[in-house]
Amino acid sequence: MSEININTVCIIGAGTMGSGITELIVSMGKKVVLLDLEKGILEGALGTIEKNLRRLAQRGKMEKEQVSLVLSRIQLTEDYGDISDADIVIEAASEDMELKKVIFNRIEKSTRESAIIATNTSTLSVSELAMSTSRPEKVVGIHFFNPAPIMKLVEVINTAKTSPETLEQTIEFVRSLDKYPVTVKDRTGFVVNRILLPMINEAIFVLDEGVATAAEIDNAMKLGANHPIGPLALADLIGLDVTLSVLNVLYEEYGDPKFRPAPLLKEMVRSDYLGRKTGKGFFEYRKR
Ligand SMILES: NC(=O)c1ccc[n+]([C@@H]2O[C@H](COP(=O)([O-])OP(=O)(O)OC[C@H]3O[C@@H](n4cnc5c(N)ncnc54)[C@H](O)[C@@H]3O)[C@@H](O)[C@H]2O)c1
Repeated sequence: MSEININTVCIIGAGTMGSGITELIVSMGKKVVLLDLEKGILEGALGTIEKNLRRLAQRGKMEKEQVSLVLSRIQLTEDYGDISDADIVIEAASEDMELKKVIFNRIEKSTRESAIIATNTSTLSVSELAMSTSRPEKVVGIHFFNPAPIMKLVEVINTAKTSPETLEQTIEFVRSLDKYPVTVKDRTGFVVNRILLPMINEAIFVLDEGVATAAEIDNAMKLGANHPIGPLALADLIGLDVTLSVLNVLYEEYGDPKFRPAPLLKEMVRSDYLGRKTGKGFFEYRKR
């Protein structure tokens, strides 16, 4: 059995995923040190988490008095000196290999040798990140899904260098968050995106060929395949720019034409029709 008890968690990057993962972990009774570049970003993330917790309290899913207790478990910082007690550091900064390598270097220098260094990357090589450190056996991928407090799955990426102990502790940690860990090899797209993205892409080809309308394609997949959301609405939710970029990474890595992005998807991204975030994708949305 693993020896370290993971209590102190540090998260690097307070964006969509970093704030979602923080909300999840503090809700489970653990402390989080949340690090980002600027105070404004950190305070914005804290505000979002507070809003989400208050909404849960309003719906009776959490005691009102609990909200401030849960929030008090979050420490905001811009200083790597504050992550020295971490049992695990989860990097959830922007999807950029060079940036992540710099962050991994900072993490390595600022933490104990026993600390696990995890990345939440969706598409980058966890092995490459691991090899940029002097302790690749402590590096693992821990891929949460958005929104992290709600989505049950976490892909745990076991590289060729990850030690069995690191893997076991990470799986145990994921279970302690009431999530379902699936252990996967370090192959681009892991399991979910590798299967999901070609399906979304095919739906875009089907639309472009005029086989059916966007609404009918989504209804067909909801009613015929029992999917809770249609592939085109899902692409709008993910963001068409992100969808295109993941397909490009998959295509580049595997060289398999099944991953070639649909021309309609490229045209929409070039036209700034990015889905929900711009108010228009395959469907129209009221701007938030
Ligand atoms: N958004 C999703 O649906 C999703 C799902 C699973 C995994 N991911 C992965 O999670 C990671 C984060 O994605 P996101 O959507 O939260 O991005 P985001 O753009 O919302 O947030 C990224 C955050 O990283 C911060 N950052 C940038 N450089 C930094 C640095 N040097 N030090 C500290 N913080 C820094 C930014 O200020 C920003 O707050 C990416 O690797 C992405 O691939 C995203």
